[in-house]
Amino acid sequence: MNHTSSEADDFDSIASDAAIASLAEDGYAFVNRLFDPALIMTLAAELAAMEAAGTMATAAVGRDGGLRRDVDIRRAAIRWFDGGTEAERRFLAVAELLRIAINRRLFLGLFDFECNFIAYPTGGFYGRHLDSLAGARNRVVSLIVYLDADWQADYGGALRLWSGPEDQGAASAEIVPQAGRVVLMMSEEIPHEVLPSHRPRHAIAGWWRVNASTGQRLDTSR
Ligand code: OGA
Ligand code: MN
Repeated sequence: MNHTSSEADDFDSIASDAAIASLAEDGYAFVNRLFDPALIMTLAAELAAMEAAGTMATAAVGRDGGLRRDVDIRRAAIRWFDGGTEAERRFLAVAELLRIAINRRLFLGLFDFECNFIAYPTGGFYGRHLDSLAGARNRVVSLIVYLDADWQADYGGALRLWSGPEDQGAASAEIVPQAGRVVLMMSEEIPHEVLPSHRPRHAIAGWWRVNASTGQRLDTSR
């Protein structure tokens, strides 16, 4: 193949097509290799440097005035992407290819993308939640990418998923947060939680949104 763009090297379109098909079928999908492993390692190193420099913020839960730091539901620190490094820009370029691929197959009208680094301390967790309230049409598809090499199942920190908002039964999947593993979810439909982690745990989480602006209300929620 004769391509020059680095994002083309970062993106596995066959893996992404399979994941998008599962996303449509089940409401979630996971795939082990969608991003260049070297890019994942660079992002992990950049996050480690931010933690060491103390530039992460305690994660807040809720929005629209109800913003609060809620240690009962979530214990983690975040930093929003600002595209300030080449690795962030490469990651965002792959997210853009995914946005186009998802829209092409599922006609979701995904419009833009927001994303943050997440660092869970030892004992960190995130209780069962939906990434978007049903009907808000804000966050539509969620992306999570794990950054920790050699993660073992007994370190805890699995991502537990259910099949729909009403599903209170046994989880449909538990994903070990191994570096490079990617999860896609329908943000309004798939409840999920991060089980308590026995080691520091690192991820990138992002959301594609539709343009929710109307004549009445400018969408300022991000
Ligand atoms: C989130 C989230 C899951 C994870 O940030 O909304 O659900 O595995 N993260 O870190
Ligand atoms: Mn979530």
